[in-house]
Amino acid sequence: MNRFYLTTAIDYVNSRPHLGTAYEKVTADVIARYRRLRGHPTRFVMGNDEHSQNVFQRATELGLDPRVFCDRMEAVFREVWAKLDVSFDDFIRTTEARHRVAVTTLVERIAAAGDLYEGEYEGWYCVSCEAFKQDRDLVDGECPVHRSKPDWVKEKNHFFRLSRYRDRLLEHYAAHPTFVQPEVRRNEMLRLLERGLEDISVSRTGQRWGIPLPFDPSNVVYVWFDALTNYMAAVGYGSDEEQFATWWPADVHVVGKDITRFHAVVWPAMLMSAGIAPPRRVFGHGWVNWQGRRMSKSLGTNVDPLDAADRLGPDPLRLYLVKEIVYGQDGDFTWERFDERYNADLANNFGNLVSRVTAMAHKYRGGRVAPAPGAAPRLADVAADVVRRYRAALDAYALHAGMAAAFDLIDATNEFITRSEPWALAKSADRRRELDQALFEMVEAVRIAALLLWPAMPSSCAEIWRRMGQTRPIAESRLDADAAWSGGGRHVVQGPPLWPRLEAGGSIGGIAAGAPGVAAEKGSGTTMTDDIPTTAPLPVERDPGSRRVGGPRDGTPSAPPAGGTDPGPAAAPPAPAPAAPAPPPEPRISFDDFMKVRLQVARVLVAEVIPKSRKLLKVTVDDGSGERTLVAGIARAYAPETLVGRSVVIVANLEKARLMGVESNGMILAATDPDGQPVLLGVDNPDAAPPGARVR
Ligand code: MSP
Repeated sequence: MNRFYLTTAIDYVNSRPHLGTAYEKVTADVIARYRRLRGHPTRFVMGNDEHSQNVFQRATELGLDPRVFCDRMEAVFREVWAKLDVSFDDFIRTTEARHRVAVTTLVERIAAAGDLYEGEYEGWYCVSCEAFKQDRDLVDGECPVHRSKPDWVKEKNHFFRLSRYRDRLLEHYAAHPTFVQPEVRRNEMLRLLERGLEDISVSRTGQRWGIPLPFDPSNVVYVWFDALTNYMAAVGYGSDEEQFATWWPADVHVVGKDITRFHAVVWPAMLMSAGIAPPRRVFGHGWVNWQGRRMSKSLGTNVDPLDAADRLGPDPLRLYLVKEIVYGQDGDFTWERFDERYNADLANNFGNLVSRVTAMAHKYRGGRVAPAPGAAPRLADVAADVVRRYRAALDAYALHAGMAAAFDLIDATNEFITRSEPWALAKSADRRRELDQALFEMVEAVRIAALLLWPAMPSSCAEIWRRMGQTRPIAESRLDADAAWSGGGRHVVQGPPLWPRLEAGGSIGGIAAGAPGVAAEKGSGTTMTDDIPTTAPLPVERDPGSRRVGGPRDGTPSAPPAGGTDPGPAAAPPAPAPAAPAPPPEPRISFDDFMKVRLQVARVLVAEVIPKSRKLLKVTVDDGSGERTLVAGIARAYAPETLVGRSVVIVANLEKARLMGVESNGMILAATDPDGQPVLLGVDNPDAAPPGARVR
């Protein structure tokens, strides 16, 4: 049986999902939908990871019972996944009874195998990763993923003999070359295994939020040991053996590159210890970056997926994520690029093609198209080649390449229209057959393209499928049968443009982006306070942030041919006023992030010109605890002597930098006037705010 079981990482619920976490779920959804299209019985599981310390802390800050907090966050996550059309079959939470049973059963089996022992752990712990860290894992003493200093912890806990499994893991990797993908992640894991493995602590003392260790309830199970088990718990491990036998082992765990190690080393070792088959594959995707840094709530670089989906629609967002980012590598999200791809791929390309094809079918044949008897189709071979490449790409998890292949069929259809000139064929009565055949071919090619793009754009492609005269729902299609060139006549349906063009200046269909009163669509669930639901059920309010009006940068609409009568999109019925895109918000930082910047008052003691520099001054200040030297780019606007005695605002904890040979220990804050000249920030009452006074 080709049954297919796939999972994503389960999310920490201390904050709302961001576009990075959403990326993982969308790409997994594309894989799940593709498998269903292949006719494989598919089980797609996602869920929430609730036993983390950060979750407990967040609930405590809000004065909520952690379980109540997690219930509310479940609604928040589900709302986002529903909006993005993520079609999971099951959603597991680690506070559920079925999960607890699975964790307890697994821990008991690992203990029975003699792989747990008591010991003392002393070392670093990053609460955001929920991971023990060694010195070599840190960069400048900080966790490189979260850019924060881990805690030093010392506690008695239970250890798992991970080191015992190194050789078996290496053998497993050798016997299953695609166990970890992409290749770059596999190599990373191999290097790690070759270096040798150390035993890991698998319990935490002094915590009550978690699943108690069955044989030592004063400890809770370490959150990763707990969380990884969800993949088996969701298919009945410890509670429904028949279901478990049907679905385990999982075909693929889709996870981010930062947590591949837990899935490709710790998890298979745990399973080996318990005598259970490891998953068939772990796919470690890359990160969605924002301005060159990983999108992350704690780094303050997050985009809300609902804002992004509201702007141009969930399907364009899904397509962007799947097609623009090479699966397995990091990729950027920017509002400009999102707008640009929307116009280039959808408004000007696929959407325009659908409008032209339906308009021509109606203008020349009243919507009824059928192949000309005996005619040899010219697009059939192209379509067959595209379907072959698409399949190969998706089977190899090259989702981006699969989508690009589908667009090759769209491009070929556009070229076919240009070459066959249906508007010219329509002028001569003896070319009727040619026109029939051309109209049929373009409808058939668009039908196949819609099927191939359906995993990425489920609702739009269902609509295109319907417009191409298909009466059976697209979700019931099978790739083998339905992506093959077919020959039946059909009735094509017209409709409004699917993706109206985003005009320069950021308007769609003439409505200004971010026009007053056009706020992000309200969701259904809960009222948010500081991104956490406080009561239910009320409308969701998200801060749309600052407004930016983006415009297209690229993409040329297909112009009607000179002297021709291509009815094109203009012949379609007028579109209903499309929703204006919501303003793209600038990512917000948390108060905690802001407080990381130490702004304070300082008084200038000495200011000197730096030889050979026209912009920089060397400034020595009293910062309240002593003298420090800073380099400030204010020489064009301030003579050194005018600065002495002045109170300024400095960033005191900035990394040191060397400028024109002078070490700068901090930064003096200045505004910029319309001519680009610096204007120093001052202190209203320097006696009341002496050097060292904190600015916030
Ligand atoms: N709870 C753990 C996973 C346990 S799985 C047994 C966790 N949670 S998380 O909420 O921090 O991350 C969830 C997933 O989102 C992870 O796979 C993580 O790699 C992924 N991503 C987090 N930020 C991301 C980006 N900026 N881009 C892409 N994926 C990102 O880790």
